[in-house]
Amino acid sequence: MTEDAPRIEALLQAMTLEDKLGQLTMIRADFDAAGSTLLAPKLAEITAGHAGSVLDLRGATALIAAQKAAVENSRLKIPLLFTLDVLHGYRTIFPVPLGEAAAFDPDLWERTARAASVEAAADGIALTYAPMLDVARDPRWGRIVESAGEDAFVTARFAEAKVEGFQTDDLSRSDALAATAKHFAGYAAVNAGREYASADFSQRTFEEVYLPPFAASVNAGVAAIMPAFIEMAGVPLTAHRALLTGVLRERLGFDGVLISDFFAVAELIKHGVAADAAEAAALALNAGVDIDMASGTYTDGLPEVLARGLVRIETIDAAVRRVLALKLALGLFDKPYARGEHALAPGTIDAHRALAREAARKSIVLLQNNGVLPLSAQTGRLAVIGPLADAPGEMLGPWRAAGEASEAVSFLEGVKAAFPHAVVFHASGADIAAALEAARSADAVILCIGETANMSGEANSRARPVVPDAQRALAEAVFGAGKPVVAVLTSGRPLIAPWLFEKADAVIAAWFLGSEAGNALGDILGGAVSLSGKLPLSWPLDAGQIPIFYGERPTGRPADPENHDTSKYIDVPNEPLFPFGHGLTYTRFDYGEPRASAETLKPGECLTVEVDITNIGGMAAEEIVYLFIRDPLASVTRPFLELKAFTKIKTLPGERATVRFALTTADFSFPDADAVRRIEPGEIEILTGPSADAALLTRCRVRVVTVD
Ligand code: GLC
Repeated sequence: MTEDAPRIEALLQAMTLEDKLGQLTMIRADFDAAGSTLLAPKLAEITAGHAGSVLDLRGATALIAAQKAAVENSRLKIPLLFTLDVLHGYRTIFPVPLGEAAAFDPDLWERTARAASVEAAADGIALTYAPMLDVARDPRWGRIVESAGEDAFVTARFAEAKVEGFQTDDLSRSDALAATAKHFAGYAAVNAGREYASADFSQRTFEEVYLPPFAASVNAGVAAIMPAFIEMAGVPLTAHRALLTGVLRERLGFDGVLISDFFAVAELIKHGVAADAAEAAALALNAGVDIDMASGTYTDGLPEVLARGLVRIETIDAAVRRVLALKLALGLFDKPYARGEHALAPGTIDAHRALAREAARKSIVLLQNNGVLPLSAQTGRLAVIGPLADAPGEMLGPWRAAGEASEAVSFLEGVKAAFPHAVVFHASGADIAAALEAARSADAVILCIGETANMSGEANSRARPVVPDAQRALAEAVFGAGKPVVAVLTSGRPLIAPWLFEKADAVIAAWFLGSEAGNALGDILGGAVSLSGKLPLSWPLDAGQIPIFYGERPTGRPADPENHDTSKYIDVPNEPLFPFGHGLTYTRFDYGEPRASAETLKPGECLTVEVDITNIGGMAAEEIVYLFIRDPLASVTRPFLELKAFTKIKTLPGERATVRFALTTADFSFPDADAVRRIEPGEIEILTGPSADAALLTRCRVRVVTVD
């Protein structure tokens, strides 16, 4: 952005304090029955130069009109930045991020972000509040649905793919969106999984878990970052200068824009660290926040604290420079209407629907299957039962942008399309007798239960992340019909339902699969494609195990069933119901022992690890393969397992594939006791396998030696 410096400086010279604060102020659209709009007072604010960006305005006509108010009617003619949460699609809705993470497919992650950008930019949007990079290990927290799961390495790869997909390598393209990495940092660690609660975690957890995805997004060139609503160990992230300026800007070199979360600047008063708007504005600006989202605190408070000497005009100017630089990089000055002035090219939506179907298929995780799946193509009678059977709108999940229920394919529709010769019975389950009748009439039951979209996402923490009790009653009745039952769990989180897993013949984690949910389910039920999705997080057996994740650290008293005084519960096992990486296919795989290209390594050297994987079943299938390391002895405790690579292979029945991973000794580095990342000499275990289930991992060892 430096080549734009002269244009920025010339503008800055022409700006009054009011103009500058306008660029640091984001207003929110008004809403009426028809959707979002900007009423006259807000259009007047824009013309007066009192707003530099807009949240939640949708529809090309409305955005073009608002842009004209800025570009043609305001004094300095600075274009507006239109922003929206485009997390998993704009009009074509893809699986929610937690579901898409289950595909372990960076290429797919990038392609869906690209498609979403094309659709959103065509409606005038220039910035999205995505990817959400909170590493999440607490299914009670509703926003786990927006995450890429429990692992920092996966979330970092997700960050890179999404930033590239949204932004491309040319942010000025009329179909590019500025990406916003959020919510920095550690929001998923809210106390007891309760939304907006405090978080308090160690420097080590910050360095090892919460920071790496944001560092990956900065390295990928992310345009913006959003601090989290919450406070961390006594300091609200919106006012956290050490993290926003010290870590993001000074340590990582982030030179983009920091956008507060919604009303978060004003909420510093409720956090109890600011007496009034002026103090809140000073805290946020001095911490490094450039744009005040929707609270008006910068406009209200900064003039006073500037006069009181609590903030410097240079700080305000630096923030304005970053905002103007982003607008220049987006091409908004030269082509303010490029986003919104052209309709989508013919065939775009069809292509995106096909991508949504592919993404949904790859996101489905088969948790258990006693052989009932895939269903025979000759299946004559099917019952599709449950409140989520014919619920196309629910398939879109939370944060559905411009997604329309009318354009989504329900599970019922998908099953009918996949089994055109079958008689398909449907019962919503509201009338259990009718549902039982449908089950009795069928050869097999597709039981569609789980969460509705409004039970997941922001402000939807659940102390009991279970299948709703009414659905359990329905399921128990359906089990009583004595027919094979395939349970399809729609949810934004792992659900605790041991009773379901005990009785269902197959259970599918369907997350919120998006616009093509029904067709994707139909594709995999009939075996048209084998499943490949795997869990991006641990699936608890009991809510009492939460937070539960594979990357735990050793204890001085490791669990020992023969020794009472060891790390375990007396009422529940330590292990999750299903581990990170669990997911069945319609075939089986045999893993060989990994082979390392060297037995010893000096710091800076590279290593290749090969492992042979054989498809020993009867169907072609894809397999996601993981490589973990274990550092058993170091200057600080190291996790039982650390994921360092994953890949996906396609195999035919009987085929043996050799997977190759490339590592360097940097992959063995970790923050030492002083949070300085280092490589230590010693033995490192290399483990490969289908999941984080230690019993399924094969291993070899390498030794890192010091350089004399
Ligand atoms: C919300 C969310 C944030 C979102 C923003 C704008 O409250 O916390 O993720 O981007 O407000 O909608």
